[in-house]
Amino acid sequence: METNCSSPLLQLLFGLALLLGLAKPDPDPLQDFCIADNISPQSLFLNGAPCIDPNQATASHFATSALSKPGNTRTNKFGSNITVTNSVNLPGLNTMGLTIARADIEANGLVPPHSHPRASEVTTCLKGELIVGFMDTSNHLYIQKLQPGDSFVFPKGLIHFLSNPNQRIPALAMSGLNSQNPGVQITSIATFATIPGIPDGVLEKAYQISNQDVAKIRRNLGG
Ligand SMILES: *[C@@H]1O[C@H](CO)[C@@H](O)[C@H](O)[C@H]1NC(C)=O
Repeated sequence: METNCSSPLLQLLFGLALLLGLAKPDPDPLQDFCIADNISPQSLFLNGAPCIDPNQATASHFATSALSKPGNTRTNKFGSNITVTNSVNLPGLNTMGLTIARADIEANGLVPPHSHPRASEVTTCLKGELIVGFMDTSNHLYIQKLQPGDSFVFPKGLIHFLSNPNQRIPALAMSGLNSQNPGVQITSIATFATIPGIPDGVLEKAYQISNQDVAKIRRNLGG
C-alpha cells in the first residue's frame, strides 16, 4: 500500500502536531540567562522583567533562602501557607519558566481547590502526609495519598488541592511549576469573594443555593 502524504487526514494530523509542539508554557530564553533588574524603574513593560548586564551576574542571583522558613499557617482560615519564588526573591529565574513553591499545611489543614492557568506542577511531600487530587475536564477526580518522598503531578490549568489528613502532625511539600508566573485562582474565592462581587443570582443558580447561602459563603470567605 502506498502512503499518500497529501491526504487531508495526514495534513490535519501534521498541522495539529505542529500546533501542539508550539504550545509552550513560557517563552524560551534567547541567552544563557536574564537576571531580573529589580532596581531600575520600569518604564518599559515586557513579558517578564528586563535583565541586568550579564557581566554583573553573581552566583547569589541564582540562589534564594525565600523558602527556608515555614509560612505562617495561623493567619489563614484554611490552615496552610504557600511561599513562592519569583523574579524579585530569585532574580536568576527570570525567563527560565520556573517557580518553586513551599506549602506548609498544619494538622487538618488544606490548600483549597485552585488552578494555575500558566503552569503544570509537580509536588513532593517532604514531611507529614498529604491527600492530593485534581479534577480533569470530564470531572473525573484523581486522588492520591503521599508519604515523605512521594511526588504527584497536577496538569496545567486543572483544579487541584492538597490536604493534610493528620490530626497532629504538620505537612510540608515543595512544588516545581513550569512558569515564572504560574498565576493562581482559588475556586471558592474566585467565585464568592471577587471585587466587585458576582451578581447573587448568578451564584444562586450556578450552585443551586438560596440568597442566604450566597451571603453566608461570602461572609465566611471574607467577600
Ligand atoms: C504566610 O506566611 C508569611 C510569613 O510568615 C506571612 O507574612 C503571610 O501573611 C502568610 N500568608 C497567609 C495567606 O497567611
